[in-house]
Amino acid sequence: MGFPKGFLWGGAVAANQCEGGYLEGGKGLSCADMLKGGSVSKPRMFSPVIEEGVYYPSHQAIDFYHHYKEDIALFGEMGFKCYRLSINWSRIFPNGDDEEPNEEGLKFYDNVFDECKKNGIEPLVTLSHYEIPWAIVTKYHGFRDRKVIDLFVKYATTCFKRYKGKVKYWLTFNEINAALMPGGGAYNGVGYVIEEDLQNTEQRPVNQLIDDPQGRLEALHNEFVASALTVKAGHEIDPDNMIGCMIAHLTVYPATCSPDDMLAAQREDDFFNNICGDMHVRGEYPPFAENIYKSYGVDTSFMHNEEDMKILKEGVVDMYTFSYYMSMTKSAKPAQDETGGNLSFGGKNPYLKATPWGWQIDPEGLRWTLNKLSDRYPHTPLMIVENGMGMIDKKEEDGSVHDGYRIDYLRDHVKQMKLAIDEDNVPLIGYTTWGCIDLVSAGTGEMYKRYGFIYVDRNDDGTGDFSRSRKDSFFWYKKCIESNGEDID
Ligand code: BG6
Repeated sequence: MGFPKGFLWGGAVAANQCEGGYLEGGKGLSCADMLKGGSVSKPRMFSPVIEEGVYYPSHQAIDFYHHYKEDIALFGEMGFKCYRLSINWSRIFPNGDDEEPNEEGLKFYDNVFDECKKNGIEPLVTLSHYEIPWAIVTKYHGFRDRKVIDLFVKYATTCFKRYKGKVKYWLTFNEINAALMPGGGAYNGVGYVIEEDLQNTEQRPVNQLIDDPQGRLEALHNEFVASALTVKAGHEIDPDNMIGCMIAHLTVYPATCSPDDMLAAQREDDFFNNICGDMHVRGEYPPFAENIYKSYGVDTSFMHNEEDMKILKEGVVDMYTFSYYMSMTKSAKPAQDETGGNLSFGGKNPYLKATPWGWQIDPEGLRWTLNKLSDRYPHTPLMIVENGMGMIDKKEEDGSVHDGYRIDYLRDHVKQMKLAIDEDNVPLIGYTTWGCIDLVSAGTGEMYKRYGFIYVDRNDDGTGDFSRSRKDSFFWYKKCIESNGEDID
């Protein structure tokens, strides 16, 4: 009973949200480096050229590039079994299509993985977390060009070979289903990558970049193919590799028990969650996908490429990994009262409370989601690789942070995970909370919205000395891990 032995407790981050050192060690620009800061009411602006004297959050972020030893030691102190991080593609291939990889970039991650090992931590590596070399965006229009499939596989293969024996757990594309949303694929180099936009130096909110559903969905298809080829190559290089997808799971409830609302919620779940899940776990488009794509006026012939279909079947993932933050409701009518999120929006649920950013808190929804996933993908190991609470934290003079609200949020989710394992027999293998150390918010670019167990002295106006301190949640999570999820009150 309870969490299985060897359960992967830990935390998660992404390179562009924590590393900084954006041009150090031979790194090239990545698309995330072109995004300015925003807030809950001010969208992040995208600029096709870096403007002098302007604050771009990823450029320094929390300076993990120079603090990694200290940070990983703190994760070790908490007892992490697993640390999810991403490799910045543009550190390894600064232009995306370079002949040879950048040795300094490869060495940086060698050092990071060695540090993990020293602290008894298993790395879980995302190959592309909302990040793609900027040169691939300008030269190839991101994944719209099928050449980028090969470039990605070359990058992934370089990492598999170099880190063989150091890294066993891998994810291909972070929240790949973001590309289904208009503008949502921007971080993956998809969707906004068309001539007019690149030539227009005027800044635009990232969620209002020119959208082209045909290009965006074809590019997503190319990412599926790249992911499957990567899984296949990863297994050939090291049969011990466990490679997963990464889906932003949007848990949707019908707004009422009206049959129309039931169907609307089902349609949303199929569209946002199940297309991408099926592509990775079953290696095929589900039957409803084509008509959904056609409803956007998309020519769907790319969905019938026989060679691709074979690749997809041969490259199914070893585990289904996903992010879970909230749930929302769906009605057949337009929602009256919308709730927030960084990718999609739905109706408010009167039974749930929300964070100041409007993210509805729903621990039971996590149990529901785990059950849905183990029904849909029987015997596929599941892993929650993001879950957490973005809040405004106050650091006291002695460096402490009393974040009882975060402990409550995490404890309630851990309880539901335990019920899903004990009562429902869900094959859950791990849990990495999001933003185990404060970092830049992907949605708003803020530091003000904090997720970590570790407070980082860095602010949105660029002030702060980057010092780290332990929040109350740090000690709570340490206890949780030590007791394998038993001592959480
Ligand atoms: C997920 C992303 O969507 O949510 C992360 O994978 C992101 O990169 C996280 O940081 C939390 O969202 P936000 O907008 O609060 O940073």
